[in-house]
Amino acid sequence: MCGIVGYIGNREARPILMNGLKRLEYRGYDSAGIAILWDNKINVTKQVGKINVLEGELNGSKIPGNLGIAHTRWATHGEPTQVNAHPHSDCTGNIVLVHNGIIENYNTLKQMLIEKGHKIRTETDTEILVHLIEEFYQNGTSFEESFRLALNEVEGTYGLALITKYEPDKLFCARNGSPLVVGIGEGEYFLGSDAAAIISHTRNVFYLEDGEIAVIGRDGFVTKTIENQLIRKKIEKINFDLERIEKAGYQHFMLKEIYEQPNTVADAMRGRLIEEEGVAKLGGLTPILHNVLRARKIFITACGTSYHAGLIGEYMLEEYCRIPVEVEYASEFRYRDPIIEDDNLVVVISQSGETADTLAALREAKRKGTTVMGLVNVVGSSIARETHGGTYIHAGPEIGVASTKAFTSQVTALTLLTVMIARTKTMSAEEGRQIVKEMKALPGKVEQALKTDSVVKEIAAEFQDKRNFLYLGRGYNYPVALEGALKLKEISYIHAEGYPAAEMKHGPIALIDEDMPVVVIATQDSTYEKIVSNIEEVKARRGRVIAVVSEGDHNLDNLVDYTIPIPMTLNLLQPIVSIIPLQLLAYHIALLRGCDVDQPRNLAKSVTVE
Ligand code: AGP
Repeated sequence: MCGIVGYIGNREARPILMNGLKRLEYRGYDSAGIAILWDNKINVTKQVGKINVLEGELNGSKIPGNLGIAHTRWATHGEPTQVNAHPHSDCTGNIVLVHNGIIENYNTLKQMLIEKGHKIRTETDTEILVHLIEEFYQNGTSFEESFRLALNEVEGTYGLALITKYEPDKLFCARNGSPLVVGIGEGEYFLGSDAAAIISHTRNVFYLEDGEIAVIGRDGFVTKTIENQLIRKKIEKINFDLERIEKAGYQHFMLKEIYEQPNTVADAMRGRLIEEEGVAKLGGLTPILHNVLRARKIFITACGTSYHAGLIGEYMLEEYCRIPVEVEYASEFRYRDPIIEDDNLVVVISQSGETADTLAALREAKRKGTTVMGLVNVVGSSIARETHGGTYIHAGPEIGVASTKAFTSQVTALTLLTVMIARTKTMSAEEGRQIVKEMKALPGKVEQALKTDSVVKEIAAEFQDKRNFLYLGRGYNYPVALEGALKLKEISYIHAEGYPAAEMKHGPIALIDEDMPVVVIATQDSTYEKIVSNIEEVKARRGRVIAVVSEGDHNLDNLVDYTIPIPMTLNLLQPIVSIIPLQLLAYHIALLRGCDVDQPRNLAKSVTVE
């Protein structure tokens, strides 16, 4: 949702905070602000719009000071205005805070504070917290204690950082639900909502857990719980390089990440395949391997693109492991009281590892006493730390808000899980070897599919002004249709729906006319003949059809408007190749429509609030 940065040290804070903020802009980008303490004064500057607008506002003004906080916002409470932008201050302006999350009981607290004479200036939930701290401090409590006591009054989620004139040599921060990582330098400390804001300064970090506070000075830090228990933090190393979060010459992070997929698919399976035995091994599952292998039912829960990967996992786990699988939106799973038995397995899938609904679904499943495994990209993220075991997908940092490489790496990891379990059940060594062999050929096939970029670009030019799209697929390609539609919606703001191709006759076919582009994934598999009939139904209503077909298949050349040929592979692996031209189609249409591809409106990379 929002991105938070903090710095305390001996260097000028402003450039460090602004660079950190730019690295977190993908988390939220409707307004931004910075506060620096200098000479017993806190300088606050905030602006509506992207960070370059704030930078413009700051330009030329020298703000000395080596203690500060900054924020880039994804509005939840109060429109993106300059007043509602963070940082927020108390009545005196002596306490200034930035916050990522939602204070759920802010209205109750607000009434109490107004009755006590506090002047509330904004529509935000966050401002209430800073007045609450002020209230405790005014009643004679030490500042650190006021900070802690106020947090005990709060219901909801937060990752926050605070500076105050009352403690000019300290940076205060706390976490409950929203991520916060602290970087350790020589006589200086860095704070970020994720490691991207810190990596250019240090690799030594510690992660705050829920209900934890850190009070950081230039010569050290104290960490404790909000119940005032001192805690020791494990110092960890960030494991990715700075250039992995640069554009590497591509115009957008999304395009770079689409083109990274031959490598990231290879990375997802690196060291996890034993070809001669036709098996897969996932070291991260060792602590829970017994429960994974004997699971009598599997729940997969996730949000957005990760949910679509989960749907493909359902198809392959049921086909090859003969284990019943239910795939659930995490936001529904967490509240619908699912029937979970001891010998069930819950798989939570998340690129960021911080999605609030998925984290809550994980905790709900643990509360029910079942084994919970994670399929996560961000190392050290909350979901990774809270599952009983799991598998990192090793896709590297994904900056583009529209998830691409994480999807293909999630499906690759789900295939590894399927082969690992199936080889302990009915799958023969020969069948296992065939799948492993095909998996090893995937990076080359993804490379090949990327070569459709120029054809896709032409198709994008043809359909860039359309207001609606329909995506159709069958079997393993049905979730690909859903994912293709999501990509287009997210970055081009065109309404698009993915549908099982046969389901079209039961309603959506009414939408078909010459103005409705229909993207059909028609690769040659056991349902090929059926999908061709569905295409004929669309053409009979003068629909315009873009068909993703298997290389060498010219059967549809005279039936459809455009064909995009991609390499064939096994059905369960086909989605990893079929999605490539759909990612490119969404990218090129969004580009032609002048949309902000990497930071589409109203979206954020990691949804850390409910
Ligand atoms: C996908 O392009 C979107 N960014 C969004 O749907 C995303 O997949 C969803 O928010 C889940 O995120 P996660 O994988 O980080 O949990």
